[in-house]
Amino acid sequence: MNSRKPLICGVMVAAFAFILPVNGAEINQARAKFNYQMLCQGCHTHDGSGGNDIPELKGFIGNFLATKQGREYLVRVPGSANSALNSSDLAEVLNWIILEFGADSIPKDLTMYQADEVDKLRHDALFEVIEYRKMIIAKLPKRQAEIKQSTKEKL
Ligand code: HEC
Repeated sequence: MNSRKPLICGVMVAAFAFILPVNGAEINQARAKFNYQMLCQGCHTHDGSGGNDIPELKGFIGNFLATKQGREYLVRVPGSANSALNSSDLAEVLNWIILEFGADSIPKDLTMYQADEVDKLRHDALFEVIEYRKMIIAKLPKRQAEIKQSTKEKL
């Protein structure tokens, strides 16, 4: 009898419990949440509602995924692109943010970010964010632009 086998199986089950594969991208919930708390939450708040000059991720972030430019914007924005995270962890935290806070704004055909996509985009980090963001939002499909009007007009 190999008495170590049940223990090994138990450890494997515990490890897999943290990983939720969605659209081909794996999210380690504990790690993603930790990275968000350490590096993003200070500005974006614990539930993504933001405030002052920080835009609301909650119920809105998924709208950006409706256009190619919007999808790229979420990586090129300085908070993402210049973060201390490596590209694999940045992809993970962005996917986590979208699923955690996106709610109804998440597109049905959601394609998760992958490390190589994020790695390319973040090298083209944005500087003039406010005007660029307005332009991106203006180009979103109408329904989403309307949602924007009703949430936050400041930025
Ligand atoms: C110092 C404050 C600060 C920190 C820390 C920060 N952000 Fe941001 N973030 C902002 C601001 C301000 C904006 C609005 C665009 C801009 O002016 O850069 C923004 C916008 C964004 C957006 C686009 C959402 C939108 O509606 O424009 C994403 C995605 C984002 N941040 C992700 C992150 C991630 C991921 C982290 C952590 C790795 C992070 N941010 C850390 C301040 C911050």
